[in-house]
Amino acid sequence: MRRLPPDGAIPIVWHSTAGRRRGMSLDTTVTAGKAPTAELNAAERLADMAQSDMRRVDALILDRMGSPVPLIPKLARYLVEAGGKRIRPLITLATARMLSYEGDAQLKLAAAVEFIHTATLLHDDVVDESDLRRGRKSANIVWGNAPSVLVGDFLFARAFMLMVDAESLPALHSLSRAASVIAEGEVRQLAATGDVNVSEASYRAIIEAKTAALFAAAAEVSGIVANRTEDEIAALDRYGREIGLAFQLVDDMLDYGGLSATLGKKTGDDFREGKVTLPVTIAIAAADDEERAFWTRVIADKDQKDGDFEHALDLISKHGALQATLEAARTHAANAREALSGFPDNVWKTALIDLADFVVERAH
Ligand code: IPE
Ligand code: IPE
Ligand code: MG
Ligand code: MG
Repeated sequence: MRRLPPDGAIPIVWHSTAGRRRGMSLDTTVTAGKAPTAELNAAERLADMAQSDMRRVDALILDRMGSPVPLIPKLARYLVEAGGKRIRPLITLATARMLSYEGDAQLKLAAAVEFIHTATLLHDDVVDESDLRRGRKSANIVWGNAPSVLVGDFLFARAFMLMVDAESLPALHSLSRAASVIAEGEVRQLAATGDVNVSEASYRAIIEAKTAALFAAAAEVSGIVANRTEDEIAALDRYGREIGLAFQLVDDMLDYGGLSATLGKKTGDDFREGKVTLPVTIAIAAADDEERAFWTRVIADKDQKDGDFEHALDLISKHGALQATLEAARTHAANAREALSGFPDNVWKTALIDLADFVVERAH
């Protein structure tokens, strides 16, 4: 097991396209700030720029994970020390810098954002019966479902304590609303599992809730603590929401078109669960009778056998569904860039704009 770096910083880990670019083995990971020769991707560059803020956020995360109940820090550290991309707290830190905010409430809010995210991952892996997360066996596999759910609850509660400590009622409102919307999104998705008739509109509502809402709040809270105008706060919300939509579209695309070693999680999980994401919705909409019967068997009846995933991949590719999903993600990334257009130019704004492109690029 990897240990924390001596200075207590948590590694930011990409299970990594950078490794692929440099022709290294696929499980090569890159730690932001510690990849001396590699060309950094936009998220790694942003992590580098935000390094000193992120160190303080890491310290908060490690401190607030503490509990006299040994299983709690043990399980939480297991997941947190595996890294993760930390895109959401980076968005909070970078937007605060873009606005030249001079306080430090964003640090607690960024830590709260990552706690909410971490809690949802613990819960999500139980619900999705996933067994790989951040390149490791997921916590539900190591400790079981009950500890994962309960430690997830603990992290949610600690997120709320951090938000209260940030002493901004409107920021607390924004993030607590996001937390409830995420839960609604996960429940909505659960209810839609196995439904081959899920529309693009309901799919969009699901991903907006389960993923984009937290990105939106992560960006919006900076505007709130920096006392910006309603329009500026709305623009930040839109930046986060659009980048979050692009992010989940690409995640759903990679569940069919990506590589487990690169992603640090198993591809094909959505298919095995009968989760209908955009690539499948597009393939079903274009299906002939025989193909529709296939989708009904594997998704609605959950009657799956060897070779079905490969056949699903063929159908998805035949109908250009991954490409269409990527195009949808590109549109949202463009909307995210556009949302920042009213803010004065600075290096942080540029980095946030590049991040929107990168979220889509990571597909390649
Ligand atoms: C995973 O999020 C959950 C989704 C919304 C797809 P990330 O891909 O940001 O997970 P980590 O934190 O980097 O592991
Ligand atoms: C994202 O959905 C989960 C949350 C936002 C809670 P997924 O189920 O697609 O995420 P992964 O693929 O397991 O990371
Ligand atoms: Mg999942
Ligand atoms: Mg996924």
